[in-house]
Amino acid sequence: MTQVLISPSILSADFSNLGYAIKKIEEAGVDRVHLDVMDGHFVPNITFGPELVKSIRNKTKILFETHLMIEHPEKYIKRFRDAGSDIIIIHYETTKGRKLKECIKIIKECGAKAGLSINPETPWEKIKNFLNEIDLVLIMTVSPGFGGQAFKNEVLPKLKSLKEFVVKNKINLDIEVDGGINPDTAKLAVIAGANILVAGASIFKSNDVIEAINKLRSSI
Ligand code: DX5
Ligand code: ZN
Repeated sequence: MTQVLISPSILSADFSNLGYAIKKIEEAGVDRVHLDVMDGHFVPNITFGPELVKSIRNKTKILFETHLMIEHPEKYIKRFRDAGSDIIIIHYETTKGRKLKECIKIIKECGAKAGLSINPETPWEKIKNFLNEIDLVLIMTVSPGFGGQAFKNEVLPKLKSLKEFVVKNKINLDIEVDGGINPDTAKLAVIAGANILVAGASIFKSNDVIEAINKLRSSI
């Protein structure tokens, strides 16, 4: 059976004490952290840029997966790579057409792993031709922009269909879900085909980060 990984999103952590959040994640034995970059254009919220990524890079060796919810990601990929991102995830919705190929090329050339994300209403078939070129698909299970939203159950059939296609065609790809993951929804996402679960509020809005991560693990 595939091992399911948890990717804590620091979006819901205390931004004045990110070092502490990272320390707790490490203590829980997690191998990665999810960094949500928002530009106020593609999504109606603004978070942080490469400088912040760089400053937390100095605190830990765990994997950084950087989720770029920004317009014109091609302009910033290299900066996020230089800041220490290991996996760089771009959105289909901001790169459709020729730009998507270009972005994947930039990510690969700078030595990072490439992830491609789709919004809840975007069919996975839109990125079918790219599945062999990327390392990870990030299926949004909420509309991107904010932490703490409710998981959209209607995305589950899409997840299942993508997973079936990937298995049938022997494509080596991580399938990650993002949004509204808690001990109830984690199981649904894993059954439908996800092997990495991003979780923000259910981890960082809890009283005990390590206990919350363990609860997620035991729910799947
Ligand atoms: C939402 C972000 C998510 C967010 C998930 O746009 O991409 O990564 O942090 O947060 P929760 O788990 O609270 O839905
Ligand atoms: Zn995210």
